Amino acid sequence: METSDDAAVYQLDGGLAIVQTVDYITPVVDDPYSCGLIAAANSLSDIYAMGGRPLFALNIVGFPVGSLPLSVLEEILRGGAEKVREAGASIIGGHTIDDPEPKYGLVVTGLIDPAKIFRNSTARTGDDLVLTKPIGLGIITTGIKREKVSKTTIDAAISLMSTLNRGASDAMAEVGAHACTDVTGFGLLGHLREMTAGAKVGARVSLSKVPILPEAWGLVQSGICPGGTQRNHDSLREAIVWDRRISKEAQLILCDAQTSGGLLIAVPKDMTAALIQRLKDRQTPAAAVIGEVIEDPDGRIWVGP
Ligand code: CO
Ligand code: CO
Repeated sequence: METSDDAAVYQLDGGLAIVQTVDYITPVVDDPYSCGLIAAANSLSDIYAMGGRPLFALNIVGFPVGSLPLSVLEEILRGGAEKVREAGASIIGGHTIDDPEPKYGLVVTGLIDPAKIFRNSTARTGDDLVLTKPIGLGIITTGIKREKVSKTTIDAAISLMSTLNRGASDAMAEVGAHACTDVTGFGLLGHLREMTAGAKVGARVSLSKVPILPEAWGLVQSGICPGGTQRNHDSLREAIVWDRRISKEAQLILCDAQTSGGLLIAVPKDMTAALIQRLKDRQTPAAAVIGEVIEDPDGRIWVGP
């Protein structure tokens, strides 16, 4: 807990440990089936960030019984079950409460080799930083709620958020990354800050190398930005050194709170090319070297153009 790692690990015996996580969210898109897919991929992500393999899951559901038809709940659960099946696991129980605001997520239990745990706090100076999904999803889902986003962009966002981080996790395990976390509510730089603070290293990030959903720019320029993204930006003020060429809009995008974002991987430089190739082989949504780990005991992040 002291380095805010993605999931809990409980060792059973020398060669076997349980990896356990829980996550649930409010709907980010209108379609209930897609909400189920996204919430499940989001919940499974912390298992993959640790290098684990999901075994089974339990549903956690809040649902306004009486004000929404039960068919909506069935669609959410159908999406969740399908995504868990795709992950090679199964849903074997759960709990539902009556709740004015719908919520859905999973408790996920997985297995992990205690010798191959990918923590978020073990990056080393000289590592490259690799990101496996583009960012801007928080701004885009806020735009969807305000009906400012095209159908094409909505579909692209749903597809990205429901993509499992399994391929990315397998790729990083094969090449032997030093550290990993998934990019979710604290945004790219918030989760990178957890990595740098945990390892007492710094980081350099180049804006032009970060994969960003193009539609996010127009939305953020017109003032659409989730409250969580704004709070991330505020709370990172002391930790980030912004080059003066980095606009306020770009700063917000780099701090944008994601749902079911990609993995952020610290990989030794001599393995970077192998990691990128393996990510491409698995068709991860992105496979981008966005910066590097540098020496800095204060864990600061320098962001340049
Ligand atoms: Co996480
Ligand atoms: Co989480």
